[in-house]
Amino acid sequence: MKGIILSGGAGSRLHPMTKVITKQLLPIYDKPMIYYPMSVLMMCHINEILLITTREDQPHFQKLLGDGSEIGLKLSYIIQDAPNGIAQAYTLAEEFLKGDDSMLVLGDNLFYGRFSGFREAIKRQKARENGIHAQVFAYAVNDPERYGVVEFDKSTGKVQSIEEKPANPKSNYAIPGVYLLDGSAPERVKNQKPSARGELEITDLIQTYLDADSLGVEVINRGIAWFDTGTPQ
Ligand code: G1P
Repeated sequence: MKGIILSGGAGSRLHPMTKVITKQLLPIYDKPMIYYPMSVLMMCHINEILLITTREDQPHFQKLLGDGSEIGLKLSYIIQDAPNGIAQAYTLAEEFLKGDDSMLVLGDNLFYGRFSGFREAIKRQKARENGIHAQVFAYAVNDPERYGVVEFDKSTGKVQSIEEKPANPKSNYAIPGVYLLDGSAPERVKNQKPSARGELEITDLIQTYLDADSLGVEVINRGIAWFDTGTPQ
């Protein structure tokens, strides 16, 4: 299992703070934001990590983190030249992944609490439990229209639908920015078309696993708090 952190974006909603320095390098309490998604991976015992950044920001991340060996990581870097969507991370990561499963964490998503839920999910993923090749999580929010939304069947609990920022959400379960996908993800993205907003949507990629009945979704409200700094509160 390898790790990917996607840390792109212009951070325009935080201007002028993010005009010179990217949001993921700004401090949250006592360390730059990027340390938080990095610790999620570290707590899951994933130490081979690819950091995807903009061309402009890459030297800053490299100055801060180097090759990661100081903190027991093996870090590599790749540039996302244009914000073409989260799913594009997988085609950029294809050579790094070499067919392995991965855990992708969005650079501006903060998780706080016990990560045993994530570790259990990784175990299930490795074992391909119930034919699972991909897993995402569900977190109850008050503003689901701002996120990818997952709908469960009321009686069976089975996933019914996945939609990206629906105007009329079918549930209040948002999909946080942490994704466990198998090694076929890069190939799947190559067959994907950009959405109406011109992005390769992560939810469309997840949909391919749902269609193949190989998706697991777990609700994670207990023990973990999630905060998406990309969404105005
Ligand atoms: C992205 C995803 C969305 C997900 C969210 C989590 O949205 O497209 O499915 O729920 O991250 O942070 P964005 O924040 O890029 O608009």
